[in-house]
Amino acid sequence: MIAGLKVFAPATVANVACGYDILGFAIDGPGDEIIVNRVDKPGLVITKITGCKNKLPLEVEKNTAGFAALKLLEFLKEDKIGIEMEIHKKMPFGSGLGSSAASAAAGVMAINELLERPLTRRELLPFAVLGEQIADGAYHADNVAPSLLGGIIFIRSNEELDVHRVPVPKGLYATVIYPHVKILTRDARKILSDVVSLDDHITQNGNLGGLILGLYNSNFGLIKRSLQDVIIEPQRAQLIPGFFELQEKVLNAGALGCSISGAGPSIFALSDSLITAQNVGVEMTKVYSRLKIESELFISSINQRGTYLV
Ligand code: HSE
Repeated sequence: MIAGLKVFAPATVANVACGYDILGFAIDGPGDEIIVNRVDKPGLVITKITGCKNKLPLEVEKNTAGFAALKLLEFLKEDKIGIEMEIHKKMPFGSGLGSSAASAAAGVMAINELLERPLTRRELLPFAVLGEQIADGAYHADNVAPSLLGGIIFIRSNEELDVHRVPVPKGLYATVIYPHVKILTRDARKILSDVVSLDDHITQNGNLGGLILGLYNSNFGLIKRSLQDVIIEPQRAQLIPGFFELQEKVLNAGALGCSISGAGPSIFALSDSLITAQNVGVEMTKVYSRLKIESELFISSINQRGTYLV
């Protein structure tokens, strides 16, 4: 068994407009780092969390990384070995960029590497999803799966974790802005109506199919027509100041589409080139400077690597 190691799990954009709970992609740059070390004293202990201003629990059972790691250790019947875990958050927390998912993905990957890879990456997924579930109470893999596996991930069924990697067209870039306003995923899920009209269902299904097909065929025109959310975005946009103004400016700047990243408050856009993604970023930043809301901007290609051993 290995004595100690470090892993990194990237931030993610979930939903991707028309794929609520069933579509997500990973980005480069922000993410979570987890360090694990073998110790003599039996059991898993979280010794340190940095980058979250003491907002995350050190108790293993209440921590997304800790819980995911513990469930994996129990499954492997290795929960008596002594492990110390440090969590270093290198991404904004509560931002709609899959912070808890990155922790959970990094947690399971760190344990799996420490035990010299008893499971494949895909086999780690259920444990990571269980970890993320304690953050918002729901079982969905649209942040965890892309953070762990990388790329753009389509989930046919969350219950069965029937997950599929979708090809990434050359030139596809994401621009993501995190305005510093507070939205809890749990709350942003609670406000959603259970009822969807037949018209909206048809439109959303058409868009989801179109988006997947557009990604498969590198058909940017089809991607652009499909990157629309007629169900969730209209209900959540009110939680994000300046959302519609920003969306209009970003589309005018040439983005393929723009919507809420996960449960928000971050907003993402996809573009067919780096230069457009950068122009989109300028427009996004201008909106929040004018509204006097602090923000952070990320411009990235789609991260194909997912969680990795540093
Ligand atoms: N699909 C989730 C949501 C992502 O929009 O609530 C956030 O965890």
